[in-house]
Amino acid sequence: MSIEDAIRALPKVELHLHIEGSLEPELMFALAERNQVELPFASVEEVRAAYDFSDLQSFLDIYYAGAQVLLEEQDFYDMTWAYLERCRADKVRHTEIFFDPQTHTDRGVPFDTVIRGITRALDDGREQLGISSELILCFLRHLSAEAAMATLEQALPWKERIIGVGLDSSEKGHPPEKFQAVFDRARAEGFLTVAHAGEEGPPEYIEQALDLLKVKRIDHGVRCLEDPLLVRRLQKERMPLTVCPLSNVKLCVFDTLEEHNLKTLLDANLCATINSDDPAYFGGYIGQNFLETAEALKLGLDDIETLARNAVEASFLDDDGKQDLM
Ligand code: HPA
Ligand code: ZN
Repeated sequence: MSIEDAIRALPKVELHLHIEGSLEPELMFALAERNQVELPFASVEEVRAAYDFSDLQSFLDIYYAGAQVLLEEQDFYDMTWAYLERCRADKVRHTEIFFDPQTHTDRGVPFDTVIRGITRALDDGREQLGISSELILCFLRHLSAEAAMATLEQALPWKERIIGVGLDSSEKGHPPEKFQAVFDRARAEGFLTVAHAGEEGPPEYIEQALDLLKVKRIDHGVRCLEDPLLVRRLQKERMPLTVCPLSNVKLCVFDTLEEHNLKTLLDANLCATINSDDPAYFGGYIGQNFLETAEALKLGLDDIETLARNAVEASFLDDDGKQDLM
C-alpha cells in the first residue's frame, strides 16, 4: 500500500482544532448575508488572498474579524456541522474541539448561544456520522486573568459538556503563569487542562504550562527542542504534543514544511500527533496535514502508525474508548 493510501485509510483522532478556525470563507459570506454583518472583504477570493500571514498575530487579527459573522445558535451549529462533514471525509473517528467563548461573549453573543449550537452539532455528529467528540474551552491569553475567571464561571453550568480548559491567542508576552489561579480553579471544578505553549513562545512557557497549569497535553510545543532537559522531561512523562504542521508553516514558525521538526520529535520518542489547528485558514484539514507532512519529511508507514497510536494515547477517551480505536 502506498503511504498516501495508508493515510487516507487511517482512522484518525484530532486533538488540536479551533472550531472558529474551521469557518470557510464561503460559509463566512453566507452567514454575513444571513445576519446582515458587513465584512471587510468584497469576495471569497479576496478573503483567501488575505490569508497570507507573517506570524501568529497577523493571523489572529483576521481570524477574530471573520468570527464576527457568528451571532445565532444556528450559525455555531452550521460551522460545527461543516467541520464534522470534513471529519467524515478524512476518516476522523474522534475529535477534541477548542472553542473561544470570549471571542463571542465580548461581542454580546451569550455563552449559552455559542455552546448550544456547537453541542447540538456534536450530538448529531455522534448519532449520524459516528464521530465521537469532546469540547475544550480556551481562554484568550491576551485578555486578563479576571476575564478568564469570569468565563470559567459562565462555563460551570455546562461542566458535563466541557471536558477541559485550554489557553490560546497571542502567546508572546502572555506566559502561562498569568493564568495559574484560573487553572487551579478549573482543575478543582474537575476540568482537565491543556495549553498552547512553545509555538512562538520560548521553552520556559512549556515548563510553566506543566508546572503551574498541570496540563495533560501541550498544544504545539515545537520549540521544546531548544531545551534538551525539557525534551528529556517530555519523554519521561509521555507528555503529548499536538503538532500542527501546515499551521506552523503558514504562521512562519518554520519557513518550509521540509524544515519542520516533527520527524525529529518522533525520532526522539516524544508523543507527537498531527492536527489541523485552523484548517479554513491554513490550507488543509487533518488528512491534508498528514499527506503533505509525510511527503515533505519522508515519513514511513511506521511513522504514520506511531502518529495514529500517539493520538489515541493522548486523547481524553477512557480506556474502552481508546481500545476501540487501537
Ligand atoms: N495559536 C494560538 N491561538 C490560536 C491559534 C494558534 O495556533 N489558533 C487559534 N487561536
Ligand atoms: Zn491552536
